[in-house]
Amino acid sequence: MIDPHHPLIKILLVLLALLAWRRWAPVSYWYVLVFPRKVISLRWTWRHVASGCGLTKKRHRWWFTTVPGLVASTGVVQVKRRFQRVAVDTKPWMGLPRPTRNGFRITFHLLDGQIPDDYAKVCERLAHAWRIEAVRVVGSRPGRVTLQGITSDPLTHVAAAMPPAAPPGGWRADDLLRPIVGVLETGAAWRMDFRLIPHWMNAGATQSGKSNLINALLVGLAPQPVALVGFDLKGGMELSAYQARLSALATTRSECLDLLSDLIAVMGARMMACRRHGARDIWQLPDSARPIPVVVLVDELAELFLTADKAEKDQVTRTATALLRIAQLGRALGIHLVLSGQRIGSDLGPGVTALRAQIGSRVCHRVNDPETAVMTLGDLDPDALVAARSIAPELPGVAVVTGSDGRWSRARSGYVSDYAAEQAAHTYAELTLSWAQVAASGLGHELPNPSHHALNP
Ligand SMILES: Nc1ncnc2c1ncn2[C@@H]1O[C@H](COP(=O)(O)OP(=O)(O)O)[C@@H](O)[C@H]1O
Ligand SMILES: [Mg+2]
Repeated sequence: MIDPHHPLIKILLVLLALLAWRRWAPVSYWYVLVFPRKVISLRWTWRHVASGCGLTKKRHRWWFTTVPGLVASTGVVQVKRRFQRVAVDTKPWMGLPRPTRNGFRITFHLLDGQIPDDYAKVCERLAHAWRIEAVRVVGSRPGRVTLQGITSDPLTHVAAAMPPAAPPGGWRADDLLRPIVGVLETGAAWRMDFRLIPHWMNAGATQSGKSNLINALLVGLAPQPVALVGFDLKGGMELSAYQARLSALATTRSECLDLLSDLIAVMGARMMACRRHGARDIWQLPDSARPIPVVVLVDELAELFLTADKAEKDQVTRTATALLRIAQLGRALGIHLVLSGQRIGSDLGPGVTALRAQIGSRVCHRVNDPETAVMTLGDLDPDALVAARSIAPELPGVAVVTGSDGRWSRARSGYVSDYAAEQAAHTYAELTLSWAQVAASGLGHELPNPSHHALNP
């Protein structure tokens, strides 16, 4: 018979309980058991870690030191204590670590001559020293830098992206165009904030999660009073399922050119409206006069730039010029681009480099070749390129995303099946304005003669 009161049995039961706790309630396990131990070890080892990562500085201090001296008359060595200036290693002051769901945050006081970038450069070293997944700089103030330690990768399980509920009292201008599409590796929501960064690039190899991001974006924007426009030169295979919520969809090259020239006409009309009101952008216009924002989804940018013969070359040049104008002027006029593609580089043709320079935020999914990562993320931190190239194929939807501050982060879009996106498009179909209504919105009159490519006339 096993005695249930035997000490070994008791230990075994406690161990099993701990294992079950860790398995079924990892968050509370982390807060209660792991985090306090981590705090002690972080503070205990900080001098060594800071010195190993080159974050300490030599400083001169007055110090009591023991100095051996030879007494000449007797030849005896005597040890004297003297007040002396010596160089000592100073470590940056470490604030108390604060727990987060999947890690911790710590603020450090910068030593004289240090900048937050000095910490950004040694994030990987810190992660290894602290035995955690990753470390990122998440904020800075004068004289301070805040780091986030990530103990478990929150990107392995990401909840599906859902259509956001309308805020109480209806959509206000400030709520628009900031859909949540997934999760950042810090555990925070990944918001594609078009108001902050007007245009986005969505790059990656096939099966890396580009279309999923478009789906998540569609689901996030569908309930908002926003016009969506699609360019899909794969014959409409990708975007035509969402037509119920699209104000226009172009699927052939000539439709694309027509739609682009309409968009430019719309921009011209909006520019005049802004000038009449003395506004610098549509957000400064009174609510009643503000035209509806337009988000242009381009699936497979390369298709827009491919030329089969000389005749098409002229069309491609005009397409490139039109896109560039929209990218340059769209920000103030509420016209936003999301450019998706496998490669978005100069090999597509002249004009692509200039276009890319106008795209403020980059999303780089898994890529097949290093050049694509370089093209997409530009000359960002080499660490960002390494992170982009090490995205595992088993985790589609994971991407390296650049932020408004030039820093980068890993992120993953919430899974949205084509069916779910299609459902969202149908659910919110009544919000779809026809292309003529989009062109006329906020202007108080219909634009003359919108072209007839639009599939929702
Ligand atoms: N964030 C995600 N979470 C889970 N699965 C995803 C995610 N993103 C993409 N997938 C899956 O990966 C596969 C490829 O994604 P897709 O968006 O079609 O890639 P792409 O458009 O780049 O070829 C699809 O089966 C999709 O369901
Ligand atoms: Mg796709």
